[in-house]
Amino acid sequence: MEMLKKLFSLEGKTILVTGGAQGIGREIANHAAAIGADVVIFDLQGKKAEQAAKEIAETYGRRTYSRQVDVTDYEGIKTALKQAVKEMGQIELLFNNAGIVIQKPVIESSPEEWKKVIDVNLNGVYYVAQLFGKYLIETGIKGSIVNTASMSGIIVNYPQLQASYNTSKAGVTHLTKSLAYEWAEHGIRVNCISPGYMFTELTSFVREDWREKWAELTPMKRLGKPEELAGAVIYLLSDSASFTTGCELVVDGGFTII
Ligand SMILES: NC(=O)c1ccc[n+]([C@@H]2O[C@H](COP(=O)([O-])OP(=O)(O)OC[C@H]3O[C@@H](n4cnc5c(N)ncnc54)[C@H](O)[C@@H]3O)[C@@H](O)[C@H]2O)c1
Repeated sequence: MEMLKKLFSLEGKTILVTGGAQGIGREIANHAAAIGADVVIFDLQGKKAEQAAKEIAETYGRRTYSRQVDVTDYEGIKTALKQAVKEMGQIELLFNNAGIVIQKPVIESSPEEWKKVIDVNLNGVYYVAQLFGKYLIETGIKGSIVNTASMSGIIVNYPQLQASYNTSKAGVTHLTKSLAYEWAEHGIRVNCISPGYMFTELTSFVREDWREKWAELTPMKRLGKPEELAGAVIYLLSDSASFTTGCELVVDGGFTII
């Protein structure tokens, strides 16, 4: 038990979760708090983020802090990060997770729609990682970053068409590897997870027949639950992954093996 605790505990650490007001981010924030971390949530939905932070503090007895942050707003992230560090003391971990999807054929999509998805999913992940990495390097903290990519960066989803999303997620995976190389010498590890179809708010609004098709296409014949990503993210964040960097951990019920 002691060894297990030493391997996977996040005790004494603080984690910043983007998109932590709901879905996968919220679930990771809960799990991180349950195994010892204090939690900072940045989300576009300020009120919901505040509520999540309050509930986590009450449930797990951790220190929490939240801010309404748009991950496409570079200056806004900079200010929020500065304030979060001031409130929490030090932040060692980042779950860089906020993301959106637009499902439309390319020929029906506007340049604005393409730019919106790339801006949140790729530029946003880059901005948060860059500012957080800069903070770690300047303070000499040997931190750990996990970005949320997707199996959509590996395969092309169907029946729904979502080229902008797929492209943005392929970008997140390669950005992860690039950052892992650049920051290895600073003792900062950068990895990503690539979830398959998970049942969250993001996917709860799509057509019922699509969701049934997704389950049918997945070898495990179901969608994943957000809590089924917690072990993967905690592993990558924790000291048990101390020699792991630039890795893409695919958690998809077997979708990408066939
Ligand atoms: N649900 C899935 O099947 C699935 C599969 C693979 C990858 N993912 C990825 O996982 C991540 C989380 O997805 P989810 O399913 O929990 O979605 P979700 O919609 O339930 O949660 C996303 C969160 O991100 C926040 N957000 C959106 N735009 C933002 C912005 N500009 N700035 C700050 N916050 C913003 C939202 O307010 C929300 O709280 C996303 O990156 C998504 O692409 C999801």
